[in-house]
Amino acid sequence: MSSIHIEAKVGDIAETVLLPGDPLRAKHVAETFLEDAVCYNTVRNMFGFTGYYKGKKVSVQGTGMGMGSAAIYIHELINTYNAKNLIRVGTCGAIQKEINLGQVLLAMSASGDSDANNLYFEGMHYAATADFDLLLKAYKAAQRLNIKTYKGSVFSTNTFYDDDIQNRWKKWQKHGILGVEMETQMLFTLAKRFGVKALSILTVSDNIITGEATSSKEREQSFNDMMKIALELA
Ligand code: HPA
Repeated sequence: MSSIHIEAKVGDIAETVLLPGDPLRAKHVAETFLEDAVCYNTVRNMFGFTGYYKGKKVSVQGTGMGMGSAAIYIHELINTYNAKNLIRVGTCGAIQKEINLGQVLLAMSASGDSDANNLYFEGMHYAATADFDLLLKAYKAAQRLNIKTYKGSVFSTNTFYDDDIQNRWKKWQKHGILGVEMETQMLFTLAKRFGVKALSILTVSDNIITGEATSSKEREQSFNDMMKIALELA
C-alpha cells in the first residue's frame, strides 16, 4: 500500500522523519549525512529518502512551501507510513532585531494564519506547541554540540509577500515571536491531532525587520548546525 502523494511501501519510511521544505534539501541531506540512503519517493519531485545516521534509521522528506502542501505530506507520513517523530528543518525570517542571520531557533510554539486551522477549530485559536521531549532532546544536543539556539515562538504564514512587510509583523514582534516561516503551525497541530511527536528547528535566513539576508556560505554553515541537532534526535 502507498499513499496518494508518496509512492513508498509501508515500512520504507523510518519512525523519525526530517522535513525540509525543499525536496532538493532532502536529497542533499540524504547524500551528505546519511548512510545507505534510498530514495522512496519521486512523485511530483517531492523527494523522500531513508538511510541511517549513526546506525539509526531515519527518513528525510520534502514538504513543499506553505501549510497546504506540508499538511498533505505530514498527514500521509503519519497515517499511512506510521511516522512517530516529525522534525521540520527549515528556514525563517527573524522579526526580532537582536537575532542574527544564521542562528538556530527551536520553536516552542507556532501561531499562524492557517485558514485550515481556522475552519477546523471553528474560529477559535488552537495553541500549537512542540513536543516537549523532542524539544528537550534538541536543546541538550545543541548544548553538547556547542551550538547557540534561541528558544521561543514562531509564526507560520501562508503568504510570503505583503505590501508592507515590516509593519505587518509589529504586533507579533511585540508579543515575542522570534521568526516567521510557513509550515510549523500545521506540523504541530497535525502531530497533536494524530498523537505523534513534532519539533521545528529553523535557521534564520533573513531578518524581516532589518532587511538583511544570508550569503550562501552562511546558509550552508547554519544549515549544518541545524542538521547536526536534528540528526541527534533520530
Ligand atoms: N517569510 C516567510 N517564510 C520565510 C521567510 C520569510 O521572510 N524567510 C524564510 N522563510
